[in-house]
Parts: sequence; structure tokens; C-alpha cells
Amino acid sequence: MSTGIVVGATGGIGAACARALADSAERIVLTGRRQDALEQLADELRGEAVAADIATSEGREAVAAATGTGISWLVLASGIPLRRPLAELDEEEIETAFRTNLVGPTLLLRRLLAHPWEEPRALTVIGSISASRSLPRRAVYGATKAGIEHLARSLAAELAPSGIRVNIVAPGVIETPFLGDGTAALDDWVRARVPAGRLGAAEEIARVVRYVTVEAPSYLTGARIVVDGGAEAVA
Ligand SMILES: NC(=O)c1ccc[n+]([C@@H]2O[C@H](COP(=O)([O-])OP(=O)(O)OC[C@H]3O[C@@H](n4cnc5c(N)ncnc54)[C@H](OP(=O)(O)O)[C@@H]3O)[C@@H](O)[C@H]2O)c1
Repeated sequence: MSTGIVVGATGGIGAACARALADSAERIVLTGRRQDALEQLADELRGEAVAADIATSEGREAVAAATGTGISWLVLASGIPLRRPLAELDEEEIETAFRTNLVGPTLLLRRLLAHPWEEPRALTVIGSISASRSLPRRAVYGATKAGIEHLARSLAAELAPSGIRVNIVAPGVIETPFLGDGTAALDDWVRARVPAGRLGAAEEIARVVRYVTVEAPSYLTGARIVVDGGAEAVA
């Protein structure tokens, strides 16, 4: 039975991706940390909720155990923000950011690549424009996102012989809980730096993720599609 997996399905972007892809696998595994939110989404989409912290080995094992065989596609949409100057961060905050955004996902992917994959064999990683730009107060977050983007690009080459496509969708500033109470502070930045003149919506990312994951030609691998209202184009 073909399985689609969304990691970070309780998030703004992850939930939108799950809704956009719900009809694209025989079963859909929804994972994140918040049990209630997961169960609500699983009811809505007739998916399977797996509450798991992928920064821990127990969490990664729980996702792998629920996956079964025959992974059709996986969308990696989990992550935490960190928006303060490096000198103000303590060691634990820095380690948590790398564990959550880079090390945990890397170890989870390693685990899931041991499963058989089946058509359309697609891994889509949600990156960030913070991976490719120098942004103050985002050095650690940007490093974690640059790391996961580079992992994805390298995996595109490594996994091409086995037919698994790996692509990156890199959002700009998207209106989700990820922004926390920083939305007002972002307004000036968005007005000055985003040609579209507004925040993006999670559904706009999900439409691109759906295309890249299940609709794109099999030749599309190793790509990075930036969905940011034009911000990178004018950087
Ligand atoms: N929003 C933006 O402006 C923006 C811009 C560029 C890139 N991104 C990237 O887009 C992705 C999704 O962001 P979002 O805006 O949807 O954020 P969000 O609404 O805060 O969602 C984050 C998701 O990640 C999950 N998560 C966090 N830590 C986890 C862990 N240790 N184990 C398992 N799941 C974990 C959360 O699960 P729980 O809530 O259940 O804990 C939630 O499902 C992230 O990778 C982020 O870096 C976002």
C-alpha cells in the first residue's frame, strides 16, 4: 500500500501540504509533536496521526514504525525558528535548533531510506530564503536551513539512481504560527524587500509542494523553487 508522509503536519505549511496531497497516496501518515492537532487533521484527511519528536531517536523510530512499506512521497515541513543574535543565544538553544532542523531530519531520512520506495518516489524538503541570504538575528536558524537544503541537494544526486527525486521548496515570509509575535516587526521588511508587498500564505507553498512532489516530470530533481513574492529576485 503506497504511503505519503508529512513531517511537521501540525504546522501551518505542513498542514496545508497534507491537505494538498491527501489524495496522492493510499494512506497518509501525519506526524508532528502535538497529539490533539494531529488527531484533528487525521480525522479531516482520514490520515494516521503519529505524535513524535524527530529530534529524539524514540520519535524517529515511532515515525519509521508507522511508515510500513512502500513510501511514495515524503514532505519534510518541520522546523523551529530562532531569531536572536548569536552572542545572546545559550548553548542549549543552538543545539536544539540544529537537532530539530538538521540532525533529527537527517537521521529520520537515513532511517526511512531503508524502507522500499514506490512511485512517484519523491522527497520534498521545505527550505527557507534564510538558507541563501545573510539575515541579522538569523545566523543559527539560517545555518540549520542551509544544512538541510544542502543535504537535500546532495541526496538528489545520491538517490537519482534509485529513482527517488529530491527537491527543495524555499518559502519567503509565510503567515503561520512560525512567525510568532514577530508579524508586526516583519511588516516593514516585507514592504521594503518583497515585491509582492505582502506575506505569503501556506496554501501557496502547498500548491508548489504538490506540483514538485506528485505532478512534476521525473526529470525534476535537485531543484530549489523559491516561493517568496520576489524577495530573492531583488536581493
Ligand atoms: N513560516 C515562514 O515564514 C517560513 C519561512 C521559510 C521557511 N519556513 C520553514 O517551513 C517549515 C514549516 O514552517 P511553518 O511556518 O509551517 O511553521 P509552524 O507552523 O511553526 O510548524 C512547524 C512544524 O514543525 C513541527 N516540529 C517542530 N519541531 C519538531 C520536532 N522536534 N519533531 C517533530 N515535529 C516538529 C511542529 O510540530 P508541533 O507544532 O506539533 O510541535 C509543526 O508541525 C519549517 O521548516 C520552517 O523552517 C517557514
